Amino acid sequence: MNSEHERNYYTCGLIWNYNMPHKFDVNNAEILDSPERFQFLNPDSTLEKVGLGKEMVLADLGCGTGYFTIPASRRVKKVFAIDTQKGMLDIVSQKIKKQKLTNIETILSEEASIPVPDNSVDVLLMVNVFHELEDRGSILKEGKRILSGNGKLVIVDWKKMEMDFGPPVEERLTEEEVISICKDNGFEVREQSGVGPYNYVLIFGKA
Ligand SMILES: C[S@@+](CC[C@H](N)C(=O)[O-])C[C@H]1O[C@@H](n2cnc3c(N)ncnc32)[C@H](O)[C@@H]1O
Repeated sequence: MNSEHERNYYTCGLIWNYNMPHKFDVNNAEILDSPERFQFLNPDSTLEKVGLGKEMVLADLGCGTGYFTIPASRRVKKVFAIDTQKGMLDIVSQKIKKQKLTNIETILSEEASIPVPDNSVDVLLMVNVFHELEDRGSILKEGKRILSGNGKLVIVDWKKMEMDFGPPVEERLTEEEVISICKDNGFEVREQSGVGPYNYVLIFGKA
């Protein structure tokens, strides 16, 4: 964290404390589950685009509070909910307990690794995480390792546009930049779309 770059963003009536280079701070976790966010980034509308099935295993990398993990768990066989912040996983665990869900495994990870077995995942989902990654090459290498042959890498992230909430524009990546980084790391784009007014959806397969 670099305090000289600390910024405050107003979003959804809440103060968004952003640090650069930042990781979304668990102290602001309530923003991830806010009703306003539900309006502009609906988890079910997003997951509809992925093409999930009851036989699938999904890894939600950078799962945060489980905003996507929980609805995804109702569509697939198993979800790995993975994050580098234990506080986020504690929130997911509370939701799992409250909702009596049995097919979610929470996993505390480190910055550049995804601790799940080789070829064990059908969908690797990253929502508003790719722009936060410090070592995209290593994470994509890990993605290739954990994804099955026909597995999909799904990246949903903020459009690179000036807004008065969300990450600063200079931290956001264009769709073309994400496609290029993924291509350089062995993935080819299969589908390119959007969800809501602020987010793009990119679906990749192994090249
Ligand atoms: C903006 S939040 C998004 C959370 C969730 N995907 C959502 O859309 O509600 C980003 C999350 O990614 C996590 N994260 C950032 N870098 C990560 C990494 N290298 N590996 C795993 N998690 C990471 C952060 O700790 C944070 O919980």
